[in-house]
Amino acid sequence: MTRENAHQEILTLREKIHYHNYRYYILDDPEISDAGYDELMRQLQKLEAEFPEFVTLDSPSQRVGAPPLDAFETISHTIPMLSLDNAFEDGELRDFDGRVRKLLGSHSKIEYIAEPKLDGLAVELVYENGVFIQGSTRGDGFNGENITTNLRTIKSIPLRLRESEIPIPTRLEVRGEVILPIDSFQALNRQREFAGEPLFANPRNAAAGSLRQLDSAITASRPLDIFCYGNGQIIGAEVNTQADLLQMFKKWGLKVNPYIRICPGIEALLDYYREMETRRAKLPYEIDGIVIKVNRFDFQRELGIKSRSPRYAIAYKFKAQQEVTQIENIVVQVGRTGTLTPVAIMKPVKVGGVEVSRATLHNQDEIDRKDVRIGDWVVIQRAGDVIPEVVKVIESRRTGNEIPFTIPKECPVCGSLVVRVEGEAAHRCQNLSCPAQLKEGIKHFAGKRAMDIDGLGDKIVNQFVDAGLIKNVADLYSITEDQLIRMERFAKKSAQNLVESIQASKTRGLARILFALGIRYVGETTAALLVENLGTFPKIQQATYDDLIQINGIGPQSAESVIQFFSSPENLRIIERLKAAGVEFETAKVEKSGRFKDLTFLFTGTLQNMSRNQAQNLVESHGAKIANSVSKNVDYLVVGEEPGSKVEKAQKLGIKMINETEFLEMIK
Ligand code: IVH
Repeated sequence: MTRENAHQEILTLREKIHYHNYRYYILDDPEISDAGYDELMRQLQKLEAEFPEFVTLDSPSQRVGAPPLDAFETISHTIPMLSLDNAFEDGELRDFDGRVRKLLGSHSKIEYIAEPKLDGLAVELVYENGVFIQGSTRGDGFNGENITTNLRTIKSIPLRLRESEIPIPTRLEVRGEVILPIDSFQALNRQREFAGEPLFANPRNAAAGSLRQLDSAITASRPLDIFCYGNGQIIGAEVNTQADLLQMFKKWGLKVNPYIRICPGIEALLDYYREMETRRAKLPYEIDGIVIKVNRFDFQRELGIKSRSPRYAIAYKFKAQQEVTQIENIVVQVGRTGTLTPVAIMKPVKVGGVEVSRATLHNQDEIDRKDVRIGDWVVIQRAGDVIPEVVKVIESRRTGNEIPFTIPKECPVCGSLVVRVEGEAAHRCQNLSCPAQLKEGIKHFAGKRAMDIDGLGDKIVNQFVDAGLIKNVADLYSITEDQLIRMERFAKKSAQNLVESIQASKTRGLARILFALGIRYVGETTAALLVENLGTFPKIQQATYDDLIQINGIGPQSAESVIQFFSSPENLRIIERLKAAGVEFETAKVEKSGRFKDLTFLFTGTLQNMSRNQAQNLVESHGAKIANSVSKNVDYLVVGEEPGSKVEKAQKLGIKMINETEFLEMIK
């Protein structure tokens, strides 16, 4: 293909991908299959790898792959990002309306616009001539953090605005809320629980944590979303009302919340509030109230702002999702790592439209601190509106018959000794082959994101462990159809299917096995980092604490835990048996070819002739691997202008360094 043809083809592919992105992520109405979309993307990546000079910032291929940062840069907002005053009851909203009408006295008709108050993280996106060039957090309102590379990974943020009959401004500062949908939040926490990592308290914290990652690969793995609701500076377009602004946003391909309504006055606002209060429980993301704005921008300007919040807008918050109920019992659950978690069983009660009958009491310290007893009347809430928890005991309702609770000294499942480890809040069952731990461990191993063994659900795992058919994950691979047929719940066909899917799980690739093994503090991301940085299973197994800690994104806790895991003879025995059964401990196979196929490159500093992304794509297209951090596996460190600390580290390890000229020579 000629250069010119390739360029044309690249432009056409980009146009198509932008369009299908818009159909999928903004309109939620795709026109092609996921496979069709992937194919377009693959073609684009292939062409861009061949002709890296045509890679541009707004290419859909450029969402991921930015190298990790050392720190976020501070940037100042052209126009401060204000906060909002809150109203908590109808009266306060009526007062707001009264103030607005008084201040705008001479104008007869004042229209409001009401929007859901999204519970996430406020960000600003800057578009220059339609191209997304910078994104930042709200910060203190005046200065925020530059999180451009992380925001680029959010699929509902267009990298380029759509052309329409409304001309695109030369500069457009868009403000919006980044959110993590509730189901993604729950999935993320489940995964963190398995990995023994601390849980996020609510979707907002999870969204904030995801956006403040120095490694955008981690952000990319979290399905964040955005709704745009405001503007900073706009150059080259005139907008008169909030409703028009949102309309233009939609035309330009920016995502706007569907539940926005123009309200002619206070009664309509109150109606909207009640409707949204009911709708709240059914929304896939969290809202904590509504935001009311005077629709016309000239009125907004006339009303002005007082120190940090505008006079033309207010938030009307929903009531906290709390309820009162009685604790009927306290039970203890044993998790995969042997942690005993006390759980309150309560008289069922509806909190924010959802029936709740269990609440976590976290651990003994929490029980003691709140002095929770069986029989107590308690205030419960859905924290972050998801996991119910006990807020406090209503002491005035005590009768004297309440029974204090202490975590048992013996595991409720296997009867072994329970120990509280120094410095930890958790009590743990010490028996590694405790059926509870065993069951949870096998469920984790078989899970969708781990070995993905179809048909090996929770009930079947419980049945297998209870029947003594399996004592560890390696035993799965010797299960036969005959054994299964003799068990309850199995017929010839289902037995055959399960054995087949167990066999099929042998080739899931190294990162998944590492995750599946259930090493504490090794979640999917950490597992992927280990494979990416160390390459092979023997290297991971033999890595020292120092090798591990050098990897960007791996902390002391996970490093320590990996070392501990591989020093257990029992774990090694299970791994040997998995291998003997034919489970492949190899990197998922991507056929590598090209003249750099055995080489790993790392980049630092700014290149003069091409962007770092282009350079990386270029060597990757010749089969090379790109490292994220300095390690023994790096063959070449390419040093650009103003390099970072990588140079010093590379010198220590004796890694070959080349400058840009040498690099260009090499790839010529
Ligand atoms: S407008 C001057 N609209 O609420 C107007 N804010 O307390 C300032 N928020 O930092 C913001 N949904 O994070 C606006 N539809 C919405 C919103 C919204 C959520 C958040 C935003 C802001 C905070 C203000």
